[in-house]
Amino acid sequence: MKADYIWLNGEMVPFEQATIPFLSPTIHYGLGAFEGIRCYETSAGAAVFRLSEHLQRLLDSALIFGIRNFRYTLEELREATFETIRANGFSSCYIRPLIYLDGPLGLNLDSSEPKVGIATWEWGTYLGEEALESGVHMMISSFTRHHINASMTKAKICGNYANSVLAKTLALRSGYDEAIMLDSLGYVSECSGENLFVVRAAEICTPPRATILEGITRDSVTTLARDSGYVVTEDLISRDQLYIADELFVCGTAAEVTPIRAIDHRTIGIGQRGPVTQVLQQAFFKTVNGEGERSAEWLEYVYE
Ligand SMILES: Cc1ncc(COP(=O)(O)O)c(C=O)c1O
Repeated sequence: MKADYIWLNGEMVPFEQATIPFLSPTIHYGLGAFEGIRCYETSAGAAVFRLSEHLQRLLDSALIFGIRNFRYTLEELREATFETIRANGFSSCYIRPLIYLDGPLGLNLDSSEPKVGIATWEWGTYLGEEALESGVHMMISSFTRHHINASMTKAKICGNYANSVLAKTLALRSGYDEAIMLDSLGYVSECSGENLFVVRAAEICTPPRATILEGITRDSVTTLARDSGYVVTEDLISRDQLYIADELFVCGTAAEVTPIRAIDHRTIGIGQRGPVTQVLQQAFFKTVNGEGERSAEWLEYVYE
């Protein structure tokens, strides 16, 4: 369902009126930073998963990109997020804050003023409901993930996503569900909008942080796995290590925890959700639905 309102620079603006100028440098050059966050329905009401961490990453993205004079604090953005959800009456939704630039067209960040909006909409499973059990078919993309000194991989900068779009579009047009990208040295990095985990001999491994976005779901899954007694390591991973994994899964705010059934037409493990992935997926959904041991720590309730 479409929202009635978008929060824009302190005002609750009707959806159709929440526009930015055609000559905004954000549209032309991707000069902005954003977040993707989910609000879940729980028995105690709507709750946003790790909202403060997401908003901290938004502020960090702006800082990394070099945006100066951004006038909102984390606490103000947190309250604005709650207000937006309440104004639209959602019990669960996706949340999209965006810092954009208001000013003349050009490549100088300092000639524009940073502004911010928060949109919400109702949204189901990103990679398909059935994929949560049957898994997705991934392509190793021919597009390389950002070099760490070409784009700032710790920041969700709008323009960074051209690289994700190249990989995702090629994957879909080639008949796959998603793309895994290798870094500039050829090691496994991340997907167009998800982090990746490998399970082999009951040990769980994920690529190190250098070239990836430090996913909040990645951190949550790592914590939940350790809580359940699994060993989780960060290590360099090669393409062929993926092919011979017992299980693989991707995770992210959009994709939540989704198993991989095949890569490049090679079946992974049993060709559907494996037992470790199932344990972690269940732990994740229990947590976001308010019934996990970490729920109190990670859920921020909208109607408190
Ligand atoms: C490139 C990329 N990697 C990983 C992720 C997963 O991050 P998170 O779990 O914080 O949503 C995302 C989504 O934001 C992403 O865009």
